[in-house]
Amino acid sequence: MGFIPSPLRPIISPKPSVHPENVHAVPGRLFVSPSSPGAKSESALTRPPGCVIKCLVCLFISTVRKETVAAKIFVTRPVPRAALDALAAKYELEVRSDDKPIKPDQLASACKDVEGLMVVGARVTEEVLKAAKRLRAISNTGVGYDNIDVAGCTSRKIPVTNTVGVLEETTADLAFGLLLAVARRIVHGDRYIRDDRWHHWQWNLLQGFDVHHKTLGIYGFGKIGQAMARRGRGFGMPVIYHQRRPAPAEIEREIGARFVDRETLFRESDFVSLHVPLTTATDRTIGAGELRIMKPSAFLINTARGRVLDEGALVEALERGLIAGAALDVFEREPQLHPGLEGKKNVVLTPHIGSATIETRFRMAQLAAENLAALLDGQRPANVINPEVFAKTALTP
Ligand code: DGY
Repeated sequence: MGFIPSPLRPIISPKPSVHPENVHAVPGRLFVSPSSPGAKSESALTRPPGCVIKCLVCLFISTVRKETVAAKIFVTRPVPRAALDALAAKYELEVRSDDKPIKPDQLASACKDVEGLMVVGARVTEEVLKAAKRLRAISNTGVGYDNIDVAGCTSRKIPVTNTVGVLEETTADLAFGLLLAVARRIVHGDRYIRDDRWHHWQWNLLQGFDVHHKTLGIYGFGKIGQAMARRGRGFGMPVIYHQRRPAPAEIEREIGARFVDRETLFRESDFVSLHVPLTTATDRTIGAGELRIMKPSAFLINTARGRVLDEGALVEALERGLIAGAALDVFEREPQLHPGLEGKKNVVLTPHIGSATIETRFRMAQLAAENLAALLDGQRPANVINPEVFAKTALTP
């Protein structure tokens, strides 16, 4: 980013908030950056000779220093300190130490004086935007941005970025892992052993379904959908996909995927994997109608957003044997499960961990920090969600 690194002085070191399931988590801290824009004018102004002039200059500098403070940034959850270098070098950073959801009123009060907000698993509502009068940039740590009132940001000319480009392969790894787990009953088998029920080899024990050479249907053929398709091709699976418009021919060719209409996707796939973002158009877009036309031997995989799927309809379809099973990483009302899901052996559940690897979470935090630093610096990073904010008025640092 071209920032001049400066040493950081921690002002508060709250108790580390390390998730018990994650020994690698690094606790967040609050930092202030001692560098201020006032420092730049210092060397230029101290040149003139003469004691009186020097005194006047010193007085001027100390006034400037008092009045010019580094822009404040709030980071909503603890992320590895090293990922925040781009921000810490130049801005005053407050990193929340609690790795839990922050309530909108708490976020609103935390954002009163901030100019930059790095969102890590938090909702940015109208209430927050209203309170954050000085806010001029938001960086979301994640690719989905249904947690942010983007329209409210756009109307206030606040640019919002996401972390496209660093988490797609990782999320596709999980999606394919879920597909294998549910089709080959891997989680079921694990439980079977731990419950001390395995006494001898059996011909018909935990028979699942083949994955290789079965038809993989991708609903939403963006970067994650394409990464999932590539994994399927590695297993010899014919890949069909659906989205509003076909992908460019060279992408179809490179991956070996075929565009089909929506109905064909649900009718012909042995595995349907959802990869659409949550928007008003995709809210509960998969429901009873789609599940009814799927094969009774087919599986549904959701690593996109819980609300693109009608969970009630899914439970009903599973109970009626309309499909063979489902694997879900995301849920309509996280962390609540829809009644009926928990007890089903043909359902594999994970707690929204699509991008949760040590490497990818670090890259996400780093990219989010770089995006925010760039926005506050008056630049326009590649992954701005609402580029229309730049249309009339240039963002000034
Ligand atoms: C995303 O990138 O949208 C993920 O859901 C966050 O982990």
